[in-house]
Amino acid sequence: MKIQNILDRFKEFEYVVQEWEKNLAQRQRVEKRFNTYTGWVYVLGDVHVPFTDWELVYQHVLPDIAANKEKALVVLPGDSLSFDLFSRYRKASSTPLPEGEIRVLRKFLSTLTKDLKREVIMIFSNHEARIYKFIRDNIKGFLEQQEILNFLKTWDDLLGMSNLYMVMDWMVQIADIVVSHGEPGSRIKGKVNEWAINYFLHGPGKHYITNYFQVVAQAHTHQQSLGFYCERVGIEVGVLSKPLDYQFCNQPYSYGKYGDWSRGYAKLKVVKGITDRKEIRLINLDPILWNRQYRKTMTLEEKFCCDSNE
Ligand SMILES: [Fe+2]
Ligand SMILES: [Fe+2]
Repeated sequence: MKIQNILDRFKEFEYVVQEWEKNLAQRQRVEKRFNTYTGWVYVLGDVHVPFTDWELVYQHVLPDIAANKEKALVVLPGDSLSFDLFSRYRKASSTPLPEGEIRVLRKFLSTLTKDLKREVIMIFSNHEARIYKFIRDNIKGFLEQQEILNFLKTWDDLLGMSNLYMVMDWMVQIADIVVSHGEPGSRIKGKVNEWAINYFLHGPGKHYITNYFQVVAQAHTHQQSLGFYCERVGIEVGVLSKPLDYQFCNQPYSYGKYGDWSRGYAKLKVVKGITDRKEIRLINLDPILWNRQYRKTMTLEEKFCCDSNE
């Protein structure tokens, strides 16, 4: 290897470390702010603009948040956008443009932050990262890729607004709740909870956690589940998007995680940084889609009750 190549590699390494440190510091600033938080935490997973089920969001989710007289923080745990234009996989029948997705997401964020006056935390995941993968796959040379990214607008330019905290990471800890967008085991209902708790408790993830955690709220799987593992509570929060084309594209089941979807969200009550286990609610909105006008809410107590009856 030539000396110049080694120097280039070193520059790449320095760049990656700087970016990582910057993002870590930003995440920790947000975490510190909510360390001893008291109030409700709403986790609205996989909104997937522009495929969001706005009827569910505007008729059921937002009214629930609006009616809450207590403090309520909203966390968007990734896949808030779709960025199908940058996807290597099958596209939806008419691929929406990212600029439009940003415009719609901004509107949704401003409903939460301005109209409902709630603080919002947004983390980043595989769909938001599609732009980076696209550049990486199509532009040769690491520094060239970074220079192109430097010319683009930042997430702050695109979405920045007061009351919105963007965390450039796939996880964030809010009080004793770890909200994450992990992927392993995502095809098997509940499996990702076990993986995530293990990962943050005993695996490399323990270095990401600064304080004790008792709950992991997990997005990405588009499923809902609630359970215990290692004395921690694991929640898969569900999806707030309409079915996507590739959900029905006749691929074998192993093609992706898109088997049964559960539409809904989770809300948890936190007092001085500690989640009240009796006030963990997993809300399933599927009955509304089936024209049965009620919401199905699962609590840990009910879950325990159902499991012991089975
Ligand atoms: Fe998703
Ligand atoms: Fe995802």
